[in-house]
Amino acid sequence: MKTNLNVNFSGIELKNPVLTASGTFGYGYELADLIPLNELGGIVTKTITLRPREGNLQPRIAEVESGILNTIGLQNIGVRAFVEEPLEKLNRIGVPIIVSVAGSKTSEYIETVKILSGRRGVSAIELNLSCPNLKKKIICHDLCLVSEIIRGVKNVSKVPVIAKLSPLVTDIVEIALAAQNSGVDGLTLSNTYPAMAINIETFKPKLSTFRGGVSGSCIKPMSVRCVYDAYQSIKVPIIGCGGIMTGEDAIEFILAGATVVSVGSSSLVSPQNLIKIIYGIKGILERKNINSVKDIIGIVNKSFG
Ligand SMILES: Cc1cc2nc3c(=O)[nH]c(=O)nc-3n(C[C@H](O)[C@H](O)[C@H](O)COP(=O)(O)O)c2cc1C
Repeated sequence: MKTNLNVNFSGIELKNPVLTASGTFGYGYELADLIPLNELGGIVTKTITLRPREGNLQPRIAEVESGILNTIGLQNIGVRAFVEEPLEKLNRIGVPIIVSVAGSKTSEYIETVKILSGRRGVSAIELNLSCPNLKKKIICHDLCLVSEIIRGVKNVSKVPVIAKLSPLVTDIVEIALAAQNSGVDGLTLSNTYPAMAINIETFKPKLSTFRGGVSGSCIKPMSVRCVYDAYQSIKVPIIGCGGIMTGEDAIEFILAGATVVSVGSSSLVSPQNLIKIIYGIKGILERKNINSVKDIIGIVNKSFG
């Protein structure tokens, strides 16, 4: 039996449901020598800001039990340089490109999206709402600000707008609904979890900023739960993200309600894992005689309420 992996996400046709996760795959074209990029469902770029950012001081990455702790600090060349070169190279790959955008205030998000939107090769915008605002508070923790940013960006964007939420909130459904009511076209659930690790030889934190975000296998059950909870209350499609290392993990997110998944830490371990995950999903569906991946989206909710 030939299983169909293609899905539609907010009007974007994807040949399979596997995307790169923002920040774990460079701008998106650099790994062309290592994997066939045109086999991916799509590419989410690292987060782009209005002005270039150098990111945080080293050390910015530390290995932890079943995961990775990072504090990259949104290092990037800024949107104007991004549209000059990386975007041109991304265009040649032939898969949908989702550009991740962040800012410290609403006007920065809007200005950045104005420069990107309508450019050839930008299929959608993913708003990274897990970064700090001017008062150093995580944007996602302020419902009014989340709504203001989404409404502002939707006003200027010619392509679908996806909001990527932080999982560390009191009620993910409340924020997901606020995002949906503000006109968002899709949600990514979710980003890293705030975390910390300490070197017991030096008595110092393992990251320059002390705290960072943890990703990888250790966060998977918590991220699956975010997708499951949100799927029951919202209508917009979900990109499931957090700890997907194998096809089995991806299927779990799809059963919980994700239309598409994005893979981060696993591709840092080996970029080949992205392709293995696509074939892993296909193998599981074929073994279970399922015609299309679309048939199992959110099925756990449907069977057990
Ligand atoms: C080194 C590193 C850099 C990241 N940079 C970004 C980023 O620029 N923007 C963003 O939205 N998420 C960023 N993330 C979070 C990932 O996109 C993803 O949401 C998170 O790692 C959970 O997925 P995973 O467990 O598959 O890695 C980064 C993660 C890592 C490990």
